[in-house]
Amino acid sequence: MQYCKMSQEQLREELNVQKTRYDAYMAKGLSYDMTRGKPCTEQLDLSNGILDESLVADVKTEGGLDCRNYGVLTGIPEARALMGAMLGVPADQVIVGGNSSLNMMHDLLAFFMLHGTSQSGKPWCKEEKVKFICPVPGYDRHFGVTQSLGFELIPVDLLPDGPDMDRIEALVKSDASIKGMWSVPKYSNPTGYVYSDDCIRRLASMPTAADDFRIMWDDAYTIHFLGDAPVEQLNLIEACKEAGNPDRAIMIASTSKITFPGAGIAAIASSPANIAYFTKLLSNQTIGSDKMNQLRHVRFLKDREGLLAHMRKHADILRPKFQAVLEVFDREMTGLDILSWTKPEGGYFISIDVPEGCASKVVAMAKACGVAFTPAGATYPCGVDPLDRNIRIAPSFPPLSQIGTAIEVLCICIKICALEKLLNK
Ligand SMILES: Cc1ncc(COP(=O)(O)O)c(C=O)c1O
Repeated sequence: MQYCKMSQEQLREELNVQKTRYDAYMAKGLSYDMTRGKPCTEQLDLSNGILDESLVADVKTEGGLDCRNYGVLTGIPEARALMGAMLGVPADQVIVGGNSSLNMMHDLLAFFMLHGTSQSGKPWCKEEKVKFICPVPGYDRHFGVTQSLGFELIPVDLLPDGPDMDRIEALVKSDASIKGMWSVPKYSNPTGYVYSDDCIRRLASMPTAADDFRIMWDDAYTIHFLGDAPVEQLNLIEACKEAGNPDRAIMIASTSKITFPGAGIAAIASSPANIAYFTKLLSNQTIGSDKMNQLRHVRFLKDREGLLAHMRKHADILRPKFQAVLEVFDREMTGLDILSWTKPEGGYFISIDVPEGCASKVVAMAKACGVAFTPAGATYPCGVDPLDRNIRIAPSFPPLSQIGTAIEVLCICIKICALEKLLNK
């Protein structure tokens, strides 16, 4: 029965039932961590082959380049081809960097602040104000990068088929200080939503008052499907080229959640003009990235087919964990009308909306009971969810055996908070 249709008496009874359940879990002294979206040990083990020394017994690329030495700022050709195959972009439009895509995103935006977006562009730091669109709920570290650079962050709702395009088009059309936007277009963090082709066409073609508007297209989960293959999606770089805005799109990705987070390879892909410009800027920053690691990755993952075969093994580990979360939500929450939850087909997260004003309290109650979730608000710029209702669930890291219990505790906390709200406590 929907909670909002219960009488005061029924609400009080239900509250007693849920409080008794909560106390029973409290007595168990749980200590579970559902906070960050890290691969579990079993997933990391899938890539142990990359440490095999025989993989790099031959230290030269196909072109005869010695990967132990300096040089090749844009990455070895084979690694550019591999990351290009992952992103659907020609190898010469890819730069393979170091171990972290977040690092590359940060540096690109810092470059734009200091030097502008192109050979002739005005540095963004010379503008009175720089604003950036942030689809919400979104990835906390994206927001942190633009916040640390002093940008004003504009939250825009992320809908199941992409961000609210009517709002974005209206905003960027008239405000030249809006210089760009964040996006996680496939299996988004934290909702798992996938931007539709229509949304991508609109992003590529929308008129912007800023002539140096940039879309930070973080394709972190582009092949991180939970089924058998990734969903097909229009390529933003091609769409921008077709729309006459070839330099608008900047794709970013890494192998962090394919091989080893923090020890993988990251890449950016963009128009030929942007790639030439970024290469020039990068030349003042480094002589080159870790080519031995690039070589290991190429030899281990091989090509797109190799990548997909590897990701199927990840999916086999992750799928039951996602299912375990969804099963508890179905069992505990169906019909109560107090919780909405996403059902992702890929990525690392499930996003839930609890009754307004309850998220912080729910997370605090779960923590007091020994189950840690990502802090409420983390999915919004500056860590503030104005409606205090969104919580990110990260099922990848904890063992499967803990997930059912952790989510049951969460559901009990949500019920208690919802009931107390209805009873005006
Ligand atoms: C959307 C998104 N982008 C980037 C990252 C971090 O990537 P990297 O390890 O390549 O810096 C994460 C990690 O959770 C993420 O969720």
